[in-house]
Amino acid sequence: MAKRILVAGSSNIDFMLTTPYIPAPGETLLSGGKYAFTPGGKGANSAIAAKAMGADVIFCSRVGDDAYGDRLISLFNERGIDTRYIKVDRLEQTGLAVVMLEKNGTNRIIAFSGANSKISDSDIEGAFSAYPDAVLTQFEIRPDAVIAAARLANDEGIPLFVDAGSAKADFPLEKLERVEIFSPNEAETEILTGIRPDNLENCLRASISLCNRVDIKYVVLKLGERGCYVYDGKYCDLISPFDVNVVDTTAAGDVFTAALTTEYLRTGDILSSAKFANAAGALATTKLGAVNSVPTLEEVKNLLENKF
Ligand code: RIB
Repeated sequence: MAKRILVAGSSNIDFMLTTPYIPAPGETLLSGGKYAFTPGGKGANSAIAAKAMGADVIFCSRVGDDAYGDRLISLFNERGIDTRYIKVDRLEQTGLAVVMLEKNGTNRIIAFSGANSKISDSDIEGAFSAYPDAVLTQFEIRPDAVIAAARLANDEGIPLFVDAGSAKADFPLEKLERVEIFSPNEAETEILTGIRPDNLENCLRASISLCNRVDIKYVVLKLGERGCYVYDGKYCDLISPFDVNVVDTTAAGDVFTAALTTEYLRTGDILSSAKFANAAGALATTKLGAVNSVPTLEEVKNLLENKF
């Protein structure tokens, strides 16, 4: 039976603009590329990816009482997500992210939190009445809300999965108590530990530093084109990446962690789940957009079969 994952996180509309380079201060750059308003937000991307990978998803989020909020809720319903715990906030606008996409597929994002900043402890507590088997959250909502999700998961005895997306150096990691999988990307690892995971020794040092602050079962560092690094408190493994044609890296990390969570809940095997997540994350870089780049389960299986 499919596992029920409660995703507690943000919903945004992404304003995506392609640009040949990032302009200097005071410079006006005339970009000949394209722009689009597309669904995104780290929580929404993860919820849609977990559902696509075969989980039943309960999504706890907030949107504004506006056209963007309506569009997002309709999309979540279309994708078969349980939207009963998404609140429409009448005082706040729907979150918006400005995504500047460079030619090589890398991006820079400025996110306006809007309604996401109002996701409350009681919103999350309410969503536990849907009886989730696990909780997946990110750092794109208030730290107190993340900590509430962690406390509730620990109280209920269900596993907590944390994507450190949007990490801030002052996030009180110690308050998370117990985490099944903690997954930051390279930049987030450096923000949280002061260590850039640019070689195996630094991956290990950063992972140990995280485990010294939180009771983490598995640290999984997302290393982009170098694959991912798994540390279980004793042993470590570097899981190789998939060679794909990168178009846009937006949301690849969100898809990675959602796929990792879903596959790990299905199999209990961290290493094969990390390979699965590498495949899902790689596929997400081959298409433009956040939610629009979430692969199907079949696509992920095909990539895994061709590779091994
Ligand atoms: O991780 C990618 C996401 O970050 C985008 O969809 C954007 O909304 C920002 O939240």
